[in-house]
Amino acid sequence: MFYDTLSNAHGMAHDPFKAIVAPRPIGWIGSRGRDGSRNLSPYSFFNAVSDRPKIVMFSSSGRKDSLRNVEETGVFTANFVSGPLIGAMNASSVAVPYGTDEFAIAGLTPVDGRLVDAPYVAESVAVLECRVTTITTLKDMGGADTDSHAVFGQVVGIHIDESVIREGRFDLALAQPIMRLGYMDYAGIGPIFELGRPKPPTAV
Ligand SMILES: Cc1cc2nc3c(=O)[nH]c(=O)nc-3n(C[C@H](O)[C@H](O)[C@H](O)COP(=O)(O)O)c2cc1C
Repeated sequence: MFYDTLSNAHGMAHDPFKAIVAPRPIGWIGSRGRDGSRNLSPYSFFNAVSDRPKIVMFSSSGRKDSLRNVEETGVFTANFVSGPLIGAMNASSVAVPYGTDEFAIAGLTPVDGRLVDAPYVAESVAVLECRVTTITTLKDMGGADTDSHAVFGQVVGIHIDESVIREGRFDLALAQPIMRLGYMDYAGIGPIFELGRPKPPTAV
């Protein structure tokens, strides 16, 4: 089948786009407002976009509280969602008035970042402390502003729980990441395998 996304006439009950661009890691974004309030919310429009320097990005569909906070304070944390935390992650996505502390709603322990004034999840096995580098309202192909807003942040500090370090590596089999698929679906990781990079052909 084929459909153009202007008509979006895919003929299915739900738009398949997010199921195609999957799995996506979940950036569980911890932030604080200028008023001192804490916020914690999951974003699956999230990824690492550079490692030199280390930069991650999340995108807010509409002007949500996390966006407001990072605009106000310029910092956030991105917390790793592992299997045992999936219930708490989901609970923290509830739509609540600005200033409501989702750490409390989800029964999680907030800890102040070491290098940034934003809270992180003590129970998370890995946490990125980030300073905002760019916030941009995404444009469509006609150049018009959309209501999606991408936040880029440079990772200035990384917490890793010793329990998920094995043989000198951050061990994903131990860390058990939960990834977002399409619809209301999630997945863990399957078997992990190594694949070396191809070598350029040797000149004859
Ligand atoms: C797994 C998951 C992923 C989500 N990803 C996004 C996302 O990428 N962008 C977005 O705007 N909302 C996303 N949401 C919805 C937000 O988490 C939800 O709107 C939340 O209430 C926003 O909180 P805030 O206003 O405190 O930032 C996601 C929800 C879940 C459960």
